Formats: sequence, structure tokens, C-alpha cells
Amino acid sequence: MSDKISAVKRGVWGSKFAFVLAAAGSAVGLGNIWKFPYITGVNGGGAFVLVYLLSVVLVGLPILMAEILLGKSAHRDPVGTFKVLSNGSKGWMLVGWLGVIAGFVILSFYSVVAGWAMNYLFKSIIHPFTGLDPKSVSEMFSHLAADPKTEIIWHFVFMFLTVIIVIGGVKSGLEKWSKILMPLLFLILLFMVGYGMTTTGFSKGLEFLFKPDFSKLTPKSILEALGHAFFTLSLGMGAMITYGSYLKNEDDIVGPAIWIAVLDTVIALLAGIAIFSIVFSFNLKPGAGPGLVFQTLPVIFAKIKFGMVLSSLFFLLLTFAALTSAISLLEVVVAYFVDEMNVNRKIATPVIGLIIFFLGVPSAIWDNFFGAMDSLSTNFLLPTGGFFIAIFAGYRLKEEIKKINFSKYGNWLYIGWNFTIRYLSPILVLIILLNSLGIIKVI
Ligand code: TRP
Repeated sequence: MSDKISAVKRGVWGSKFAFVLAAAGSAVGLGNIWKFPYITGVNGGGAFVLVYLLSVVLVGLPILMAEILLGKSAHRDPVGTFKVLSNGSKGWMLVGWLGVIAGFVILSFYSVVAGWAMNYLFKSIIHPFTGLDPKSVSEMFSHLAADPKTEIIWHFVFMFLTVIIVIGGVKSGLEKWSKILMPLLFLILLFMVGYGMTTTGFSKGLEFLFKPDFSKLTPKSILEALGHAFFTLSLGMGAMITYGSYLKNEDDIVGPAIWIAVLDTVIALLAGIAIFSIVFSFNLKPGAGPGLVFQTLPVIFAKIKFGMVLSSLFFLLLTFAALTSAISLLEVVVAYFVDEMNVNRKIATPVIGLIIFFLGVPSAIWDNFFGAMDSLSTNFLLPTGGFFIAIFAGYRLKEEIKKINFSKYGNWLYIGWNFTIRYLSPILVLIILLNSLGIIKVI
């Protein structure tokens, strides 16, 4: 009974467009602009990109549809969704809890990186990069990385902003700003790609990104590519379940899911093209690691007219993209404590925010801790969550699946999705997970 009441009281998206925008806002973030280029660089380029693209199509997109479907069927937070749809099975609720834990872990290091972006926004305004050579630009990042105090301050500022927005409710201000700022981010990236085209490293950059060299592929890089497909689409921990829960019963999920995946992928590839053009034009290292964006794009800002304006704008937009993702991470954790534990939202949000802030502090201090948090969540928690979400949607959701409006797209899509979600995606995820844990040996 109480389930029905809470379902009725919950909000719904203003339009299909609002849903796509909010979900794309969650998907597009540091994962696209900071993480994708850097891990592509570390993992040797083309072959890694290919595995990532395959993971998006064969695993990401079907699971994205599954998550939205789960949320839309239950109209609840992720733990509540599994509870309602499995008739209270504790085992399935565990999958929801796994998501809550992943939310804590991911946001803790995500906010540290977002803090770097804010610090660069501040730098762009206070001492513009104008005239700096690539080496000095690169040193600027090393200085920041060796200065935990500054990192922690900006990490705090970012968490503070995230908390303020999540307390106030995601709907009002943020949706409005997303409509303006997300397209602006897209335009700026296009401009950077345009600039990249004029540089000597452009064709080498393209070759690095799109010409696969399979000798560079290791079990670990395959797992990272798969993990990244989850990370960048905000999958495997219930963020998209939560967003889907605000859909109306008759809403289409296929079209929006495809839009979200395409937008997310295009933005990552654009960022990659811009960044690797610069890497190869100025003899920088593609495998520089987490500092890559911060060591490459400012090289252009230092050289061009109005570089200061452009760099301020870019880091502002990057901060904003990080914010629209961070709120979806925090929202999953908060929604659990509010919906399932009856904690007051105004108390839950700052307390959880503070815990995540403290959890992020060691990430700001030690690179290894940072790497461990990232790898634990991306390469383990998200694929595991995704695996169970696929199984649940494929085998437990008979009635709800019939309600998806596949007919609009043709029966082949239904057959394809059903096959993928029941067999292909879970088997692929399982093989890659077990293989990288060393339990089985395939590659
Ligand atoms: N997808 C976001 C990015 O690429 C990060 C993110 C937001 C996320 N919500 C998530 C990742 C939920 C995993 C799960 O920056």
C-alpha cells in the first residue's frame, strides 16, 4: 500500500526532452573529457577505443535501457526498485546497496578531479596561461598534484556546491542551466577540434585513436574499457534507475537511451581528438595519466588570442558538466537514505556529503589511493552491478518488458535487446571480470 502512495506522490519529468537532457547531464562529465582521453592514452589508443565502443553498444546500451526500464516500472530509488520488483528479496536488494556503496566511492575521487577543474578555472582568471610553453603548462599540473592542501580545498568547494544543489532539488535551476551550458560545452569542444585540425599532430592523433594496434590489448585494458563504458554512461549503480523512475508509464525508453549513448560517445571522441592532436603536435606523452587534459588543452589556451576567455569558459563548462554528474551520484545515495531509511533530506544530504568529502581526502593526498578507489568502483562495483541488473531485467521482468514500446522500432529490436540482455551482455561482463581476476583464462 505505502508503495503505491509513494509512487503517486513522486514527480515526473516535464517532457521527454527534459529526461534525455538530465540523463545526458549525468552521463556526460569528467568521464568523457578527463577520463576517456587519459585512459585511452595509458592503454595505447585505437584497440582500447574499439573495445570501449563495442562495450558501449553490446553491453552499455542494453543495460542503459534495462536500468531506465527498472526505474520506470517501480517508480522508486534503486534499493526500493529491487525490493518492489522482486517482492522483497534481500538478495536483489543487495544489488541496490552495492550501488549506494559505489556512489560513495565514485563521488569521493570524482570530486577531487572536479576540484582540479575548478582550480584551473580560478587559475585561468587570476593568472591566465597566456604565453606559457608546453613544459610550464605541464609543470603547473605537477605542482597542483603535489599540493594536497589546495586540492582538498577545491574538493571541499565542489562537494559543497553538489550538496547545495541536491538539497534544493535537482529540478528547478539545474535543468534550466543544463539547456544552455551543455550545448555550449559541445560548441567549445567543436572549436577545439577545429583548432586541432590546423595543428601538425591532427592526423597522428586520429591514427592513435582509431587505428587499432591489438598487441597493446591486455586483459586489464579490456576490463578498463568495459568498466569505462559503465562509468561514462552512469551505469551499474542505479543512477539511471533513479532517473528512469521519474518517467511516466507510457513513456518511450528506446529512443532516449540511444540518444544518451550517442551524445555521450560523441563528446568523449571529440575530447579525445582535440587532446591527442595537441599531444602529438607538441611531443607530449599520450600516457601521461590523470593529468592529461590539464597538461594539453591549456597549451592551446596559452597560444591563441582570447585564450584566457576561452580557457575560463572551458573550465567553467567542465566544472558544470562534473556538477551535473556529481549530483546524480549523490542523489542515488541520498534517495536511499530518504526513501528507505526515512531520513530527512536536509539532514541526510550534508551529512553524506561530508562523509564523501572525508573519504576523498586520501585520494587528494595519495595517487595510489586515488587509483584504488577508481579501479574498485569502475572495474569491479559497476560491472558487477551491471551484471545483476541485466540478469534481473532479462529474467524477472516479463510483464514490464511487454510494455516497452518496441513496436515503434520493429520486432528485431525487441529480439535483439532481449537476446543481448539475457545472454550476450551478462556473459561478456562475466568473462571479462573473471578473466581479469585471474579466475579463468581466455585472453
Ligand atoms: N557518467 C559520469 C561521467 O562520465 C559519471 C557518473 C555520474 C557516474 N553518475 C554516475 C558513473 C553513476 C557511474 C555511475 O563523468
